[in-house]
Amino acid sequence: MQTWNLEGRRIVNWKTCDWQPYPGLDGAEPGLSWCPIRAEPGRDVGYFLMKVEPGSGAALHLHSAGEDFIMLEGELVDGDGTVLREGDCVSYAPGTRHRTHSPGGCTLLAGVKGPISTIEGDDELETLREGRTIVNWRDGGFVPYPSLPDDSAAIQWLPVRANAETGEGFYLISFEPGGSSTLHEHTDFEEFAMLQGTLTDCDGTTYVEGDCISMPPGSSHFSRSSEGCVVIDMISGPLRVLEQ
Ligand SMILES: [Fe+2]
Ligand SMILES: [Fe+2]
Repeated sequence: MQTWNLEGRRIVNWKTCDWQPYPGLDGAEPGLSWCPIRAEPGRDVGYFLMKVEPGSGAALHLHSAGEDFIMLEGELVDGDGTVLREGDCVSYAPGTRHRTHSPGGCTLLAGVKGPISTIEGDDELETLREGRTIVNWRDGGFVPYPSLPDDSAAIQWLPVRANAETGEGFYLISFEPGGSSTLHEHTDFEEFAMLQGTLTDCDGTTYVEGDCISMPPGSSHFSRSSEGCVVIDMISGPLRVLEQ
């Protein structure tokens, strides 16, 4: 009996996806293109890829419900001068505001839960200091994954922003070769991207480096990595472990 559900899953590889002009918050924004994986029309709420041309960036804006992204290539300079580099996983708390620019161009993968609005003002530095977390996955620091949704020693994690009890948050997962997750259900979206290695889902689909996957609420699955892998995970609601 099939006990899992992967209906509605979307897979986009950021290295081969179709880039479109970014519609912007207040009209088309030159120098920005995007590839929505899950996006609500007219708003950049969801899960999407963004490419910034050299010399471009984003005007000062406010994150009503926070913003998480990972730098896939290139560099992005944040409003306080901090240079975000390939491999940086960056989380902004609700209420933070910033502006960015990329002298040499960059590509990133973002998850946004609530509306973003362009604003006037210059008090971004204070909110950046208090509300921004940066973790680079290549620096290591992975620790054993907590008991939910599984307690396998073959899986480690590196939280950027996470609730260990519910499984919600924005965090890195590292599968040792042969590591697997137990059957679990997502009450809200699970969205993850393959940074290294391969991962095979329970329907036989193997995700490869560069794949960005969006699973809708109600999805349930388990997965295994024969060669090992590192993924960046964005989990919007609690996980539930299911009987297998
Ligand atoms: Fe932002
Ligand atoms: Fe999952």
